[in-house]
Amino acid sequence: MISKKMAQEINAQINREFFSAFLYLAMANDAADKGFNGTAKWMTLQFEEEQEHALKFSKYLQDQGEKVLLGAMDAPQTEWSGILEMFQDALLHEKKVTAWINDLYTLALEEKDYATQSMLKWFIDEQVEEEANCNEAIAALEMVGKSANGLFMMDRQLGKRKED
Ligand SMILES: [Fe+2]
Ligand SMILES: [Fe+2]
Repeated sequence: MISKKMAQEINAQINREFFSAFLYLAMANDAADKGFNGTAKWMTLQFEEEQEHALKFSKYLQDQGEKVLLGAMDAPQTEWSGILEMFQDALLHEKKVTAWINDLYTLALEEKDYATQSMLKWFIDEQVEEEANCNEAIAALEMVGKSANGLFMMDRQLGKRKED
């Protein structure tokens, strides 16, 4: 059993995970439009991963006998000036997600809700990985700068991402 407040906050997070999915899909579309097919693939895998996050939270709510309430989503940005800017925005977004996950954990601590604390540990670890992935891409893209050769190679490299 979880509190009504916790159920409400997890529902809010489910909607944010779907927004994350939507944001990465918008990035995938823009990357494809600009001919960065490797980046588009990377972003599409991330779009899928974000939906898995939403479903993982949904399953937890349902296991706890609570209803999943889907809400309206904001439209994401649809265009970026380049793939470096895309990853920079992705990092900013992931930092916000990390803060939200931390807030959920703080609430679970306050409520002595051990089940939710345990469930959230997976997400805490996942956020470390998400931020590291963005940081890694940003560092490489900064090295490459505006070099067409470098961007071409980087795009190919990003396209090698596997499902995880
Ligand atoms: Fe996520
Ligand atoms: Fe991930």
